[in-house]
Amino acid sequence: MTLTRADFEAAAKVVQAAISVKPQIGMILGSGLGSLADSVEDACIVPYSDIPNFPQGSVSGHAGRLVIGHLEQRPVMVMQGRVHFYEGIPIEAVGFPIRVMQMLGIKTLIVTNAAGGLNPDFKAGDLMVIKDHINLPGLAGFNPLMGHNDDSLGPRFVPLTKPYDSELRKLVFAVAARQGIKLQEGVYISQSGPAYETPAEVRMLRMMGADAVGMSTAPEVLVALHAGMRVLGISSITNEAIDEVDSDRDVSHQEVLDVGKTIVPRLITLLRGVLCDLPESAVSR
Ligand code: HPA
Repeated sequence: MTLTRADFEAAAKVVQAAISVKPQIGMILGSGLGSLADSVEDACIVPYSDIPNFPQGSVSGHAGRLVIGHLEQRPVMVMQGRVHFYEGIPIEAVGFPIRVMQMLGIKTLIVTNAAGGLNPDFKAGDLMVIKDHINLPGLAGFNPLMGHNDDSLGPRFVPLTKPYDSELRKLVFAVAARQGIKLQEGVYISQSGPAYETPAEVRMLRMMGADAVGMSTAPEVLVALHAGMRVLGISSITNEAIDEVDSDRDVSHQEVLDVGKTIVPRLITLLRGVLCDLPESAVSR
């Protein structure tokens, strides 16, 4: 599969025709967090199935539609549900929605995900600002930027030394402090999924320097960085990763969804605060 600028433009055209606002901020919501999209005002909804080439997801907890409207007076385009590499979707297609955002002129991406806590200080229910990431599938050759590079979309060799925008990270901490919301900060490690980690893998990921593990985010962030967007990432720590085989605890998708739901009100408050305080440079570059 080789997706080209013409494919991105065709998809963006369909979205453009359905909306009256010009979205400035793209948002991706992960498992259990989709209800944030329900609070978008003047919402215009475009199902992924209406958009040519848009990848279709299949995981429960992921609605599969774009919600375009306003949050805190900011024109946003929210992906209610994302697709994952483990669904058998080519890695290039996982990044497709970000290209559509790029075609629509979006300059800032806010990405959320559900993640397992690797850092022993993290508790289920915590929020973690992503400071940096390790992209295991990417390092192993499953990188959405592989193949022909269209220089009109971004550079062949993308520097990743500042993956998560430092100004936005500072901003989210300032907002959280004002709101009395506790935030962790750390390194997100992306594995392909769909299986959760073995206890030995949990210990390995910890040794690699990761604080939280999930099955998404890195591909979309790579495409966003290639597109020159500023990225803010927040993980909902829905469970504590289990590092002993004889533990009497286990991890389940249901737990991830249930804890995700309990985090949503705090995450909505936080994201609203961030949107309110976004610097002009993040919305109109
Ligand atoms: N591992 C991987 N992905 C996840 C987890 C986890 O423990 N929790 C939520 N998504």
